[in-house]
Amino acid sequence: MRRKLIVGNWKMHKTVTEAQQDFVRFAELAGALATDMDLGISAPAISLPALAATAGRVVSVYAQNSHWEAQGAFTGEVSVPMLKDLGIAGSVIGHSERRQYFGETNETAGKRVAALLKSGMEAIFCIGETLQEREAGMLEKVLRDQLIQGFAAGELVQGREVIGSNPIRPLLSVAYEPVWAIGTGKAASPVEAAEAHALVRKVLAEVFDVDTAARVRILYGGSVKPENVATYFQVPDVDGALVGGASLKPEAFAELGTKGRV
Ligand code: PGA
Repeated sequence: MRRKLIVGNWKMHKTVTEAQQDFVRFAELAGALATDMDLGISAPAISLPALAATAGRVVSVYAQNSHWEAQGAFTGEVSVPMLKDLGIAGSVIGHSERRQYFGETNETAGKRVAALLKSGMEAIFCIGETLQEREAGMLEKVLRDQLIQGFAAGELVQGREVIGSNPIRPLLSVAYEPVWAIGTGKAASPVEAAEAHALVRKVLAEVFDVDTAARVRILYGGSVKPENVATYFQVPDVDGALVGGASLKPEAFAELGTKGRV
């Protein structure tokens, strides 16, 4: 049985002061949820030191991006050792906004994921199709390419690197986020999510092995709200959620966690 993981993606929202206040408030509200699920906030890099300093056991802190090299001439990037030094849990990688606006590719995303896992840090690897791709019948090809090309670029062939030292908290999670459902209020149906998540697990079994694939958590993302979270969490292959808009207010995000309790 995979433990659910819910991560709030704050994107480019909140000053450091606001982030710290909201993080503390969310941790207070969410305290009781942590016995049933893993919780996290993915915040802008500038807020990470403040959040890491206030983080307790209850809510993990994630970056929104990290580079594959440990250091070097890569202006504007942060590295895995920098995050590790702060006590950050890991990073969201390959979000569709990074792919769409900042030239992230399957290859660069895969290298970022591998660097995290090889350092014992968590990676939330985001994949998903555009509406055009879905309508053209390319769902399976797009998801396969994103995963297979990504893992090949990162030279990640070992299931044990994907799981890490704690089998109930595997280092790799995959977030299936259909691009047309992100920030649009137009969420995928539970049936659509079930189909995509089953495919992702099948591809993970092909790339790694069946046991590894069975442990990796596959999150759904795209217009998840307190009102619809339970319908996703009833789908067998949905192991959590990556939540944008509905994570910005601590009260709403805690309510989402409560509604997602199974
Ligand atoms: P949304 O964003 O919940 O606002 O649709 C999800 C995401 O981009 O991770």
